[in-house]
Amino acid sequence: MSAPGSEPSRSSPERGGVWTVLALLRWTTGYLAERGIEGARLDAECLLAHALGVERLRLYIDFDKPVSGAERDAFRALVRRRAGERVPVAQLVGRKEFWSMPLRVTRDVLAPRPETETLVAAALDLLPEPERPARVLDVGTGSGAVALAIAQERPRAVITATDLSQEALIIAQQNAEEFGMAERMRFLRGSLFEPVRSERFDLVVSNPPYLAESTRAGVAPELAHEPEVALFAGPDGLALLGPLVDQVGAVLSHGAGFAVEIDPGQVGAVTAMCERAGLGEIRAHRDLAGRARVISARHSGGPAAAD
Ligand SMILES: C[S@@+](CC[C@H](N)C(=O)[O-])C[C@H]1O[C@@H](n2cnc3c(N)ncnc32)[C@H](O)[C@@H]1O
Repeated sequence: MSAPGSEPSRSSPERGGVWTVLALLRWTTGYLAERGIEGARLDAECLLAHALGVERLRLYIDFDKPVSGAERDAFRALVRRRAGERVPVAQLVGRKEFWSMPLRVTRDVLAPRPETETLVAAALDLLPEPERPARVLDVGTGSGAVALAIAQERPRAVITATDLSQEALIIAQQNAEEFGMAERMRFLRGSLFEPVRSERFDLVVSNPPYLAESTRAGVAPELAHEPEVALFAGPDGLALLGPLVDQVGAVLSHGAGFAVEIDPGQVGAVTAMCERAGLGEIRAHRDLAGRARVISARHSGGPAAAD
């Protein structure tokens, strides 16, 4: 293996003076790992596949294939940005897979996280009949990830997706078009429920910004490349969750479901908010790491909503 700081195209080729796919992957995995990047091998594979214009699994078939100078140049530029600037892989390759959909992402949207699939699963539990028509609202849609996953699983649902960010809504709309779901979706700009004040929904989902300002110093450097408005929400992270839970009853039809993603440390506070808002069937759902990640509830009648 060559010295980590040296360039993969010019030093220590592993097979007879030629950089193969496997040699580049090994070198780059070591290089990224030494710079503190978690999941270095996966990152190296994603970036090399992108530079070569192939699917990641194709690399395993092409392990012994030589990589040309031009391809190595493109790869090296990506590796530099990953290791040096700590740009997330999703932004470097322009895609992030969510619910088996490779969604388009830019620095205008949060790259959807694996734990947010817990929110989708909880939301689908609240709409148990796949063929039943339903009105769904996704507040803070970002790339459109949650809205698109629900649209895919509930083919008769019509979905309203809102966001404060016009740039995010453009990406979400593009994703809806690319995955053939734009006809059942509409995209509205505004804060929380402001764009849908007079409407009622059978399901409201949201993954709002919920990081506490107090944690800012300790977050991964990659977060500096994602939109601030998607991440932080006041000193305790509850600045959006508070009004979201407080106001959701006004847009829920009778018996409608509500599911919201949270930080595991907020489970008590958000459960109490749901109780105060008069919601019923309040449940916490754990993500694959075993942490409480989603609170779901149902509208249990009362004066706020009307069908
Ligand atoms: C954590 S991101 C979630 C994005 C996407 N739903 C996902 O799960 O990947 C939060 C989103 O909420 C949006 N947002 C922030 N404040 C908002 C507000 N007051 N009203 C509506 N959307 C808001 C941000 O622009 C961002 O797209």
